[in-house]
Amino acid sequence: MLQSRRILLIVSGGVAAYKCLDLVRRLRERGASVRVVMTAAATQFVTPMSFGAISGDRVFTDLFDRDDEHDIGHIRLSREADLIVVAPATADLLAKMANGLANDLASTVLLATDTPVLIAPAMNPKMWAHPATERNVATLRGDGISFIGPAAGEMAETGEAGTGRMAEPMEIVAAIEAHFGGAAKPLSGRKMVVTSGPTVEPIDPVRFLANRSSGKQGHAIAAAAAAAGADVTLVSGPVSLADPAGVNTVHVETARQMLEAVEAALPADVAVMAAAVADWRPATEVTAKMKKTPGSGPPALTLVENPDILATIGRHASLRPRLVVGFAAETNDLIANATGKLTRKGADWIVANDVSPSTGVMGGDANTVRIVRQNGVEDWPTLSKEDVAARLVAGIAEALSKADAS
Ligand code: CTP
Repeated sequence: MLQSRRILLIVSGGVAAYKCLDLVRRLRERGASVRVVMTAAATQFVTPMSFGAISGDRVFTDLFDRDDEHDIGHIRLSREADLIVVAPATADLLAKMANGLANDLASTVLLATDTPVLIAPAMNPKMWAHPATERNVATLRGDGISFIGPAAGEMAETGEAGTGRMAEPMEIVAAIEAHFGGAAKPLSGRKMVVTSGPTVEPIDPVRFLANRSSGKQGHAIAAAAAAAGADVTLVSGPVSLADPAGVNTVHVETARQMLEAVEAALPADVAVMAAAVADWRPATEVTAKMKKTPGSGPPALTLVENPDILATIGRHASLRPRLVVGFAAETNDLIANATGKLTRKGADWIVANDVSPSTGVMGGDANTVRIVRQNGVEDWPTLSKEDVAARLVAGIAEALSKADAS
């Protein structure tokens, strides 16, 4: 998909720089050529020689290198690219870009260009949340620059967590692919709503009920559908993944909020409900933190049932999508349980998977699924969650076009 695309990767100084070696490899695998510019700080984290070996090209670091300037120069570096990707982008580089500073090769290339720019920021969460960074990001967005990430999660510094992690290399690749678009877009013109991740149901202001869903499968489906040209709304519970590129992501916490956001995204051609929705929530949400009262023992937690989002959409009187896909997470009687859900919830397909702890599906990167329809079951081999997503999206596109033709 990236055949003969020319990418100029600008690497600035952050621990995430090492992940960009993998980014270069993934881009080259897809047929892109990658030329790398590093800031002086970046060379403290990864050597230019490593990037040179992986990119198969020389690496540019110095604005005043007479040989470089004579040979190619900063203007040509940016002109000879179809897309400039800045990854990781530090707070410092964002600030320079937002203010038009040009005092090293990276910032000079970025000021001297009218090539589209995609930024993958990486910094400490406090730096990302600082009003100065927020201003710079708003300015850069206003200048037409695109962003992928940052994601929430653990930071390199021990004990630090929050939003600031660089998007994963494959998420950056997806954003780059989305930028270039593809020749064949099997879902263009289709609207799709996808749910992903867990829901969390508050007990009191500090405690909640939740589950182990990572959101990897749902997010991969939203990303694959967007890459296939669909107009995708992803409704996600709290996860530590970056919002997929080119997807309208709505963040929610509870099942009731998730249902409301899904209904707001209708009408849609397709609904894929991959979220692990909490079946129950505490009957009352206490607004003050519950305290231990000596002698009175633990409080009883009374639960009430949450709305079933899949069943509500699958049986929607006026706005039922043409294709409704649910998931079934089971630890036993996979097919019988999945078939039951298909009928009970009014779904067209159920993607059934075994989530017994021994399978490592929950939170893992691979998935073995069986597609359950009224007219039979299709077994898929063990695939990465991205490949499950791609195959599912291809199947959805085929089903819609068959339905159109008939
Ligand atoms: N689902 C939903 N809303 C709920 C519960 C589940 O939309 N309140 C959806 C899930 O997104 C999934 C499907 O229903 O697409 C099946 O989810 P699963 O957890 O396997 O089934 P449950 O209905 O919760 O049944 P059980 O937990 O008893 O197996």
